[in-house]
Amino acid sequence: MERTFVMIKPDGVKRQLIGPIITRFEQKGLLLTAIQLMTIEQSLAEQHYGELQSKPFFSELVHYLTSGPVCAMVWEGQHAVANARALIGKTNPVEAAPGTIRGDYALDIAGNIVHGSDSTENAQREINLFFHADRVDPMLFHMTGYED
Ligand code: TYD
Ligand code: MG
Repeated sequence: MERTFVMIKPDGVKRQLIGPIITRFEQKGLLLTAIQLMTIEQSLAEQHYGELQSKPFFSELVHYLTSGPVCAMVWEGQHAVANARALIGKTNPVEAAPGTIRGDYALDIAGNIVHGSDSTENAQREINLFFHADRVDPMLFHMTGYED
C-alpha cells in the first residue's frame, strides 16, 4: 500500500487547524498510520527541503519550518502521494482552488499550512527522516501497524 508524508507546518498548528486538516484526509479515505507533534531542528528542516537548497527562499523556508511545533504524519492508501497532493492544492495559495487545504486556509506561499510528498521516493525519504526510531517511541510504529 502506498504511503505519503504529510506535515502540518507551524502556522497550521498555531492556528489550531490540526483537526480540520486531519478530517479532510480521513474523509478522503486515507489511513493515518503515524503521527508526531514535534519542534524540528534546523538540520532536519534543511535535509527535508534539501532539493531546494539553492533557491533564494531556502533560509526563510527553514526558519519558518523551525519557528514552532509541526504535526508530522504518515498517511496510507491507494495513490496516497497524488491523493494527498490533490487535497493540499497548489503550492501558491493564490492559485490553490477553494476546497483544497491551501485554497481554504492560506493566503501566502511563505505560509502555506501543509506539506505533502511529491513522489513515492521522496515520501519514503521524508518518512525515514521524521519517523526515525531515535525520534519516535518504537511503540508508535507497533501500535499503528506502520511496520511491514
Ligand atoms: P515546493 O516543494 O516547490 O512546493 P510544495 O510544498 O507544493 O511541494 O516548495 C516547498 C515550499 O517552499 C513551499 O510549500 C513553500 C515554499 N516556497 C516559497 O516560499 N517560495 C516559492 O517561490 C516556492 C516555489 C516555494
Ligand atoms: Mg515539494
